[in-house]
Amino acid sequence: MKTEYSTKAAIKAAAAIRKRAASQQPKVAIILGSGLGGLSKSIGDAVRVPFGDIPGFPEVTVAGHEGAVIVGTLGGREIVALSGRFHMYEGHPAALAAFPVRVFHALGAQELFVSNAAGGISSKLAVGDLMMISDHLNLMGANPLVGEEQEGELRFPDMTDAYNPGLRWLLRTTAEKLGITLREGVYAGLLGPSYETPSEVKMLRLLGADAVGMSTVPEVIVARALGMRVAGVSCITNAAAGVTGAALTHAEVLETTNRVSASFERLVTEFLARSAAPQLVMTR
Ligand code: HPA
Repeated sequence: MKTEYSTKAAIKAAAAIRKRAASQQPKVAIILGSGLGGLSKSIGDAVRVPFGDIPGFPEVTVAGHEGAVIVGTLGGREIVALSGRFHMYEGHPAALAAFPVRVFHALGAQELFVSNAAGGISSKLAVGDLMMISDHLNLMGANPLVGEEQEGELRFPDMTDAYNPGLRWLLRTTAEKLGITLREGVYAGLLGPSYETPSEVKMLRLLGADAVGMSTVPEVIVARALGMRVAGVSCITNAAAGVTGAALTHAEVLETTNRVSASFERLVTEFLARSAAPQLVMTR
């Protein structure tokens, strides 16, 4: 099976972005989850490239997602951000969900910071908590690496420590320094778009999941195949189905991300600022 979302296609897309932001050399890529796009307003010297101007990028269809790649600076580092990701529940193949990661790597990014909105399963998580992702469960029914092996990628990437231990330490200590409570846990990625049933949430808890969402996993798999270092944060926007008995709505998800976005932005910005000091980052 050939993928349209190959390294070659990524190089083309990266060239279209570079044309608009020629002087920038992003080393860190950030993917902004549902309702967390507000961070993009804090990006300095920002060059916004709408998805429509990037070959291979479809239009966005989800409320709360803007649909642009933004190149600029944050926390003193050159970054590229994705505001409006591609979800598999929109009908996109896993390789498209992960395609922006190939593009950002082609632009020069070596690190990936992922974020998402997620339902809280663990009793240790409250609505409005930020949870550092320590590991994930791929329950999306697909893997973005299926198909032709891509140049520069590992065919069988190791997923031990997929979320980089050095970056996790940096994120944890950054949150401590800022006085932001940062939980830690395992993110289960499901296809969606329906939310889970209470029985499915019970199952996920038995499987070791602390939070559940509909994204992130394909992006992280491709990042690991490319040797990128990954860190991630989930914003716990609601109690997962059956945990409190309340019904779930996308409006609640966006309302919570709005409320938490200021802490999220401070955390990411300070994390980036500290990550620029090479002695603070271990290199595995
Ligand atoms: N389930 C799946 N995805 C989600 C949820 C949830 O409860 N909340 C936000 N994204």
